[in-house]
Amino acid sequence: MQGFHKKDIRSDEFACSKAGLIRLFAEDEAAMLKIGRQLGRQLQPGDVVCLYGCLGAGKTTLAKAIASSLDIPEREITSASFTIIAEHYGRLPFYHVDLYRLEDGGVEGIGVEECFDHDGITVIEWPERGESIIPEERINVRINIEQAGRTLEIESLKPLSF
Ligand SMILES: Nc1ncnc2c1ncn2[C@@H]1O[C@H](COP(=O)(O)OP(=O)(O)O)[C@@H](O)[C@H]1O
Ligand SMILES: [Mg+2]
Repeated sequence: MQGFHKKDIRSDEFACSKAGLIRLFAEDEAAMLKIGRQLGRQLQPGDVVCLYGCLGAGKTTLAKAIASSLDIPEREITSASFTIIAEHYGRLPFYHVDLYRLEDGGVEGIGVEECFDHDGITVIEWPERGESIIPEERINVRINIEQAGRTLEIESLKPLSF
């Protein structure tokens, strides 16, 4: 693959599986989209992906790419101001959750848990605002803004390849 490269891969980070921590560098938005599509192609029904990173890190960019790998048009995925859960239907149901504008009442009871009960893919922006209800078994992606581009740390209990 071009546009991004492996910084290093430490496998066997977790005792229970071959899973590990993968570090990638995405030099621009196109590279980010490639990584997201590659991740999306490896997801299975029920998988939950948590996207950590500050405003402008590229979380929605990754969500768009994952959606496109499920045959959902990227333009359907937006950072809508008041939508916390957006459902889309492609090859699999896709639940795009953005907890940025969560009200003071917290994350319980607003319907996010229901996403996990279905055989879809759930991608969560600002997961740190809803840790109490998000399953522990998930793929964590931490995005850092660098001088040029972004570094991504992908932590997964199941093996992933990029
Ligand atoms: N790897 C990258 N390198 C440089 N710019 C990027 C990269 N990935 C995404 N961007 C840009 O960063 C901006 C913010 O992206 P967005 O996905 O909306 O962030 P977030 O959802 O984390 O707030 C967009 O303009 C996008 O094109
Ligand atoms: Mg966003």
